[in-house]
Amino acid sequence: MARLEGKVAAVSGAASGIGLATAQVFAREGATVILIDRDETRLAAARNNLDGSGHQQVLMDVTREEAWIALAEEVERDHKRLDVLVNNAGFGAFKSIADTSFETWRSILSVNLDSVFLATKYLLPALAASGRGSIVNVSSIRGIMAAPNTGSYCASKGGVRLFTKATAMECAELGNGVRANSIHPGHVETPLTAGAYADPAIAARLKADIPMKRQGQADEIADAILFLASEDSRYMTGAELVVDGGSTAT
Ligand SMILES: NC(=O)c1ccc[n+]([C@@H]2O[C@H](COP(=O)([O-])OP(=O)(O)OC[C@H]3O[C@@H](n4cnc5c(N)ncnc54)[C@H](O)[C@@H]3O)[C@@H](O)[C@H]2O)c1
Repeated sequence: MARLEGKVAAVSGAASGIGLATAQVFAREGATVILIDRDETRLAAARNNLDGSGHQQVLMDVTREEAWIALAEEVERDHKRLDVLVNNAGFGAFKSIADTSFETWRSILSVNLDSVFLATKYLLPALAASGRGSIVNVSSIRGIMAAPNTGSYCASKGGVRLFTKATAMECAELGNGVRANSIHPGHVETPLTAGAYADPAIAARLKADIPMKRQGQADEIADAILFLASEDSRYMTGAELVVDGGSTAT
C-alpha cells in the first residue's frame, strides 16, 4: 500500500530542490499533489513530470495573504479537505548584520516565516476536516544552531521551529487531529546552495565540516518529509527532525 494513497497534499516551493523532490515522492506514494510556487516555467515542468494524474499547480507568491485565502477556497471547493501541508518555500542571504538591509531582513522573514503563518491560518480548517492532517514545516539546522552571517535566515528558521511547536500544542488542545512537525536539513545540494559550492576550494571546506563528508540530496530530505507527512509518524507532533549528515551532532 502506498503511504499517501488517496491523500491530498500541498507543497510550497515545489518547482525546485527539496520541494520538487517532495512533490515527486508524494506523487509516487499515491497523493494528489497541489504544487505551489512563483516560478511559472519550472512549476509547469514539475507538475507535468509527476507520476499519476489529478495534480494541480498554483502560481502564487507565498508572502501574499490573499493568495492563501484564494487557495483555501479552492481546496475546500475541489477536495473538501487537505491531508498534508508542507511549508517549504524559502531562501537566505548570507551577509553580516551590518551589510543586511532592512528590506532584505523583511523579505527573508516574510518568505520563510510569514508564509508558514499564513498557510497554517488559512489551511487549518481543511487540515482539520481531514481528521488526520499533517503539517511539515521546513526549517533548517540554522533554526537550531547559529553561524556568522546568517542572522536573518537563523531568525526566520528559528521562528519556524517554535511556531511549529506552538501549532502542534494548539491543535492537540483543540483535538482536531492535526499534527505539526518541523524538519531541519543540513547542507543539501539544490539550486539554493549551488552558488556557495561553485568554488571547488570552498566546496571542499564545507564538505570537510560535515561528519558524513558530503552534501545531502533533495530526495534524502523528501523521504524524511514523507515520514512526517504519513501515518508512520502518527504519534509525533511538535517534534523537530534533523537530517544533516551529523552536522548538529558535534
Ligand atoms: N538546500 C539546503 O541546503 C537547505 C538547508 C536547510 C534548509 N533548506 C530550506 O529548504 C527549503 C527549500 O530549499 P531548496 O534548497 O530546495 O531551495 P530552491 O531554491 O531549490 O527551491 C525553493 C523554491 O521556493 C520557491 N519560492 C521562493 N520564494 C517564493 C515565494 N515568495 N513564493 C512562492 N515560491 C517561492 C522558489 O521559486 C523555488 O522553486 C527552504 O525553506 C530552505 O531554507 C535548504
